[in-house]
Amino acid sequence: MTMKIDGGAYASNLRQQLAVDVAQLKEKTGKAPGLTVILVGEDPASQVYVRKKGEQAKEVGIVSTEHKLPEDTTQETLLALVEEMNNDDSVHGILVQLPLPKQIDEKTVLTAILPEKDVDGFHPVNVGRLSIGDESLLPCTPHGSVHLIKHALGDDLTGLNAVVVGRSNIVGKPMAALLLQESCTVTIVHSRTKNIEEICSKADILVAAVGRPEMINADWVKEGACVIDVGINRIQRDGKNKLVGDVDYASAFEKAGSITPVPGGVGPMTIAMLLVNTMTAFKRLENA
Ligand code: GUN
Repeated sequence: MTMKIDGGAYASNLRQQLAVDVAQLKEKTGKAPGLTVILVGEDPASQVYVRKKGEQAKEVGIVSTEHKLPEDTTQETLLALVEEMNNDDSVHGILVQLPLPKQIDEKTVLTAILPEKDVDGFHPVNVGRLSIGDESLLPCTPHGSVHLIKHALGDDLTGLNAVVVGRSNIVGKPMAALLLQESCTVTIVHSRTKNIEEICSKADILVAAVGRPEMINADWVKEGACVIDVGINRIQRDGKNKLVGDVDYASAFEKAGSITPVPGGVGPMTIAMLLVNTMTAFKRLENA
């Protein structure tokens, strides 16, 4: 029987646990963890994400503030706001929603965030710490994906053959680093890879993060594999808007041992891990 990995339920459990932890820490320190989310421009998908992040933070007792800046904001203005948040003791986590408008250099902004408050785990210092296996704030989507893999396969992933499809800085590369830390044998495949389907079909753990709707079907999946679908693609089908992953779910389900749906798989975990990171940052900054 194939296991459908219910990311929504897993994330909901995590949030319940977090709410208890937050309440205990508030009692102990007299302070609440604070998260600030900065959104530049009007991207509709980003607006939805930012709203959800704020709602779920409040639900677990994290104080969440939003800064919405217009599309034509200069880099200087954004950097000044990041600096203000860096220096604000009530803010323990800073997230600048991506993508940013074209007049702003993403790397410059991400590097300006204090690494200790970088709850996205995108600052080069945190990327480096992950790479050498040091304690750091981990990127939310890959970290959430590892939780779901362990939920399906158990805590020990040693020696498993893991293939990550996609080499982005946000998902593919950190995902590979985390699976390597779990002692998996890791391969990253991408648009220039030869025999991509054959390599994927040997994976015990197959992680799809390419942003191409339903690219991966049963032929790519090893019998009994754990399939993690990070893709969120909006498509039109039968005249309706639909959300699909990078995996053709119905087809892959027939071969997989466990598989995440879209929606309701990795998506809910991303925000849950952001809240976990905010708590981690709070504990470290407040020595709690
Ligand atoms: N845009 C899409 N995913 C993410 C994410 O995980 N963090 C931020 N900051 N922006 C995003």
